[in-house]
Amino acid sequence: MDPEERKKLPSPHNLPTGDFYLYPMTVTIVKALITERTVNVEWSDGTVSDFHFLWLRDNCPCCVHPYTLEQTYEIVNAPKSLKPSEIEVTTEGVLTIHWEPEEHKSIFHPGWLKEHCYSNEKPLVKEAQKEIWDSSTREKPDEYEWEQIVKSEETELQWLQSIQNTGCALLHGVPLTEQAVGEVANRIGVVKLSNFGDFFDVRVDFDPVSNSNTGLELPPHTDLPTREYQPGMQLLHCITNEAQGGSSVLVDGFRVAEELQNKHPRAYKLLTTVPWDFANRSRTSDYRWKAPIIGLDDDGECFEIRAGSWLRHPLQAPPELMDEMYEAYQTFEKTTHDPQFQIRFRLESGDCMLFDNRRVLHGRAAYESESGNRHLRGCYIDRDELRSRIRLLQGNHRRHLILSEIER
Ligand code: OGA
Ligand code: ZN
Repeated sequence: MDPEERKKLPSPHNLPTGDFYLYPMTVTIVKALITERTVNVEWSDGTVSDFHFLWLRDNCPCCVHPYTLEQTYEIVNAPKSLKPSEIEVTTEGVLTIHWEPEEHKSIFHPGWLKEHCYSNEKPLVKEAQKEIWDSSTREKPDEYEWEQIVKSEETELQWLQSIQNTGCALLHGVPLTEQAVGEVANRIGVVKLSNFGDFFDVRVDFDPVSNSNTGLELPPHTDLPTREYQPGMQLLHCITNEAQGGSSVLVDGFRVAEELQNKHPRAYKLLTTVPWDFANRSRTSDYRWKAPIIGLDDDGECFEIRAGSWLRHPLQAPPELMDEMYEAYQTFEKTTHDPQFQIRFRLESGDCMLFDNRRVLHGRAAYESESGNRHLRGCYIDRDELRSRIRLLQGNHRRHLILSEIER
C-alpha cells in the first residue's frame, strides 16, 4: 500500500510498518514487559513472543526512506547499552518503545509484530509443504484458462501456487502469437536471458545447434544444467502442434530423489555429494559446471535436480568411485525414464506449460517432422519472480479483506 494512502486509514493501520503491506488485527497485545535482553509480549491467543532490543531497534518502522522503504538506520551505530527506557501498549493495541541512550521512539503495529515473531517454534521462513507426485497421484499438471487469469488475481494466485506446490501447471487459451509467451512470463516477473536469447523457438531446424531443434526424443532433463544457476522456471508455449508424436513428459525430480533415498541409499549418497560434470558444446560458447545431480540444502532437503544426459562432460571423479558413480547415474536415469514417475500429455496449440526447471524434469517423445509442423516458443524466469509475485498477490488479497473489514 502506498504510504500516502495508508495515512488515511484508521489507527493502527495508518502506522508505517516499514513495508507496503497491511496486517490483520487477529490477535491483540495483552501485556508487554521489559526483560534483561528482550521485550516480552503476551498475545490474546495465549502465545508469548520475545523480541530482542537490537532486533526491535533494527526494524523500527519509521527508520526507512519514505518512498523506497529501505532501511536508513545502520544498526552498526546502535550504542552497546541500547535498551528501552519505557514501553507502552496504547488503547489501540500499539507497542511504543522509548529508547535510551538514543533518544528515539519506535511504534509497532501489533499485526506486523505477530507476523514477524521468531519465537514459538514457528519454522523460520520455510516454504509451504510441497505436493510431491508421480503417475499414481497425478495424471496431468493443474490446468487453468489464461483468460480467467488475466481477469482475476484470485485465479492468478491459484495458478502460481499450483506451480509452487506441484512444480508445474498448464495454461489453455494463450494467444497464438510470438509475443504471448513473454506476456505470460511478464505477468509474473522479468524474463531471464540465456545464450539462446530472451525467447527461443523449439522446432526442427536444418542446421540445429541443439537436439531440441530436431525431431529426436528428448529424455527427461532440466534445461541449462551446464550453468552455475540453472533457470528457475521454464515456460513452453505451443503455437502449432500438427506433428505425429512429440508428446510432453514431466517427472517430479523431488519424487525421484525420495525414491532413490528410500530404495537406493548408496546411489542417493553419491548423487547428492559427488559432483558430475556438465558441458554445452558449441562453436561460440563453452559453458561448464560441476555439481551433484541431486542438490540438498543445509537441512538435507532436496532443492534442485540437475539432469541432461546429452549435456555431460567427461566425468572427473575419484577413480575408486567411478564404477559406482556410473551405477548411481544409471539408477537415477532408469527412475526418471520409468513410466511410474512420468506424466504424459500432448500440448495443443494455445497451451503454455510452466514448470520449475530445478525440480521438474521435462522431455518429449520423438516426432516425425514430415507429418506436420510443431512449434513451441519458450523462455525462462527465476524462482524469485514466482515467489515475489505470489507475495504481492497475497498482500493484495489481504488488503482487500482488511479494507472491507474497516469499512464495515
Ligand atoms: C527443449 C525441450 C520440449 C519439447 O527444447 O529443451 O525440452 O516438447 N523441448 O520439444
Ligand atoms: Zn528442455
